[in-house]
Amino acid sequence: PKDVGIKAIEIYFPAQYVEQTELEQFDGVSAGKYTIGLGQSRMGFCNDREDINSLCLTVVHRLMDRYDIKPEDIGRLEVGTETIIDKSKSVKSVLMQLFEPYDCTDMEGADTTNACYGGTAALLNAVSWIESSAWDGRLALVVAGDNAVYSPGSARPTGGAGAVAMLIGPDAPLIIDRGVRASCMKHVYDFYKPNLKSEYPIVDGKLSVQCYLNALDTCYQTYCKKVKNKYNCDVTLNSFDAFLFHSPYCKLVQKSFARLAFIDFLNTSKEEVFEKHPELTQFHDIKVEDTYFNKDIEKVFVNLSKPDFLQKTQPSLMIANQVGNMYTPSVYTGLVSLLINKPIKELAGTKVGVFSYGSGLCSTMYSLTITKECNEKSDLMKIVSSLSYIKKELNARQKISPEDYTKVLEWREQNCHTVPFSPQSSIKNMFPGSYYLVQVDEKYRRTYNRV
Ligand code: ACO
Repeated sequence: PKDVGIKAIEIYFPAQYVEQTELEQFDGVSAGKYTIGLGQSRMGFCNDREDINSLCLTVVHRLMDRYDIKPEDIGRLEVGTETIIDKSKSVKSVLMQLFEPYDCTDMEGADTTNACYGGTAALLNAVSWIESSAWDGRLALVVAGDNAVYSPGSARPTGGAGAVAMLIGPDAPLIIDRGVRASCMKHVYDFYKPNLKSEYPIVDGKLSVQCYLNALDTCYQTYCKKVKNKYNCDVTLNSFDAFLFHSPYCKLVQKSFARLAFIDFLNTSKEEVFEKHPELTQFHDIKVEDTYFNKDIEKVFVNLSKPDFLQKTQPSLMIANQVGNMYTPSVYTGLVSLLINKPIKELAGTKVGVFSYGSGLCSTMYSLTITKECNEKSDLMKIVSSLSYIKKELNARQKISPEDYTKVLEWREQNCHTVPFSPQSSIKNMFPGSYYLVQVDEKYRRTYNRV
């Protein structure tokens, strides 16, 4: 099969949010810390009506409806998530409720977990299946979903919630480039969830940022090497028309973009640096691993790369800024944001870099080639126009005060393992077509309904 990639994409986020300016006041931190310092405007969250199963049911149902996908068209379905409500039963098995009534049970795939990386792992699995001898001609569905919540403190404003579903197959308008994927996988305790009684992770914030940047550097250098070996051409930021990053908070993404500019600079010969940027020669001999928290380098390269950042990455941060870190869907919300924020003529025929990171750690950099076909009847046009509701939906959400948000989280803490459990939140404001939790019975079995 040729041109394997993303044929359709759908997103779902909860219908309520907290305003980060209000959260700054409520938390007693200085004004601007979350909005300017972290680059976040609003944070979406789930009340007790939603869990990982309902988020994924909603997004898959939406995708199937919007693209008129028949259950029998799907031969593989898998879910990437780090929101674990059952140590054995997969979210994928819950999603089978959407296929079983049509006698469609011949479907490979299960859940994949490693922090924010599970969605990418699932995507790469789906691509491999289609390129393998096991492929039977049907399409794959990849779902990434999470409810990202942190205990009170400095990490709390970097939460979020939602899900993305993608249809994977040949002859796709968003093609995943072959033979140049680059990964960096290591063992580290930067962010992890060892306490199975709690939804909250244990986080070493500073270490997690360092690990993220180290993984980024390593993946970029490996990606450049692989392209050089395969096509004998030098990759720099100029090789990409857009660059998507996993977004824990938007400010880190701007710093990450600057980091790639810094690595390009380190890869430039000394003579050229002397000629073009004599004022920067002092940074040329520096070891990249000594620079994660070097403020001088950060400042210089954030400024230098700013015009490029605004052009290539800023358009992909809309949902990350408005909903927060959704964990596994984060980098794919970047793709959705890019598709709705750039005119289709500017998207057609372009190259998009993608960096996916999950603490612990797993990370991969790959690239997408967007098809040149962009007329009214093209698949690209279909994807772009089907996402046109998003800005309206972001604005239609209900604002909840930090006090009430905190109560919702405390209530979730209390009832994390309570059975039987009946949710109390109203379903009145949920978006049409959303699934909600009806109850958890005394044997921990969950039932859902649809608004
Ligand atoms: N106005 C403007 N900027 C401000 C203000 C203000 N009033 N106050 C602070 N800032 C800036 C700081 O200078 C800092 O900027 P810098 O990073 O450029 O130096 C920024 O706001 C954040 O302030 P810090 O004091 O560094 O924040 P803190 O240490 O309290 O928390 C952290 C930040 C560590 C990211 C925390 O939110 C966290 O642990 N989040 C979860 C972990 C995470 O997301 N890690 C990223 C990769 S792993 C993953 O994806 C989960």
